Amino acid sequence: MSIADPLDPPPRLLCGPGPSDVEPAVLAAMRRPMLGHLDPAFHAVLDEVIVLLRAVWRMPDGDVMALPATGTSAMEAGLANLLEPGDTAIVAEAGYFGRRIADIAERHGARVVRVTAPWGETVPNDALLDALDRHPAARLVAVVHAETSTGAQHPLRELGTALLGTDALLLADCVTSLGGIPLDADAWGIDYAFSCTQKCLAAPPGMAPVAISPHAWARIRARRAPVPFSLDLELLRRYWIERPAVYHHTTPILAVYALHEALRRILAEGLEARWARHAAAGAHLQAALGDRGLELVADPVRQLAPLTAVRVPDGVDGKAVQGQLLAAYGIEIGGGLGPDAPPMWRIGLMGPNATTHTADRVLGALDAVLEREPVLA
Ligand SMILES: Cc1ncc(COP(=O)(O)O)c(C=O)c1O
Repeated sequence: MSIADPLDPPPRLLCGPGPSDVEPAVLAAMRRPMLGHLDPAFHAVLDEVIVLLRAVWRMPDGDVMALPATGTSAMEAGLANLLEPGDTAIVAEAGYFGRRIADIAERHGARVVRVTAPWGETVPNDALLDALDRHPAARLVAVVHAETSTGAQHPLRELGTALLGTDALLLADCVTSLGGIPLDADAWGIDYAFSCTQKCLAAPPGMAPVAISPHAWARIRARRAPVPFSLDLELLRRYWIERPAVYHHTTPILAVYALHEALRRILAEGLEARWARHAAAGAHLQAALGDRGLELVADPVRQLAPLTAVRVPDGVDGKAVQGQLLAAYGIEIGGGLGPDAPPMWRIGLMGPNATTHTADRVLGALDAVLEREPVLA
């Protein structure tokens, strides 16, 4: 007798801050025959993933690979490799994930200069450049390109341009931007960019694409303090990129197949077309929320397309609304993240869900929950 039946998870429309829905073709890719992580046939798969990732990151010169990790570990890998104890790091903190970068950098012994802005805004680039003037030996400037906790987009291209010619490295959290909004890692001068598979790439969680510039590699190779083994980018590079591959860890083979298929589909659609699709869906949702008198958290000038944070109206129990959307409509949206977050709903339109049709489904369900039975706090 079995102690558990096979899993039968309920169907959901995943319109929260991530994970997003996975297309059937991506799920199907995970049913292809398993290979071993040291099989040359699998290394040929990795080689193809690298070509695809280069195109999606737009990183022709540096290196790309995918860590066996989620976004947080890729964040930590970047900080652990680029910083040594005692180094100064300037971190833009305008939400939950900016703070996480600063906290992790501190855990690795860096002196962190936190340059802050209120939730929904972005830290002005001038404030980051002022901090760099005050700390000219700073190794690193770190920002979140798409702050999923607020729905605000940092002007990353402008920051990268301003930092060109300085010795400071630029680390960018591109977890919610890669594959969803314009991003050009090489041209924008990003030295270490990281993302994850479960947002706009629309693959299951579990892998974290990274892009590493030659400037970042020079810094990594000059360091003296050792890096934690599992996060060591040089060892990861020897497995992912160098041939013959040198064993570092047992790659999540099926997750690599899923990533391969997801990237293939992104490039078949065309990066620009995909960005435009996300932009149209986000704009449609945001306009409709505005029509309903709902207020968005992000500064409208900085509003992200893939993630919209909406203030919960006074007197409404936001968590109860989320619960009803899930129970009655099978729709997942997010709430505020962390103790400082104002009451909010976070609606993600990412990957296959970046359509006006999906936006209308969420709006229809939200209307029904709010109107039929106003959920009062
Ligand atoms: C901007 C941002 N950075 C980092 C992370 C952490 O990623 P993960 O949850 O995959 O570890 C997230 C997750 O939502 C995120 O939105």
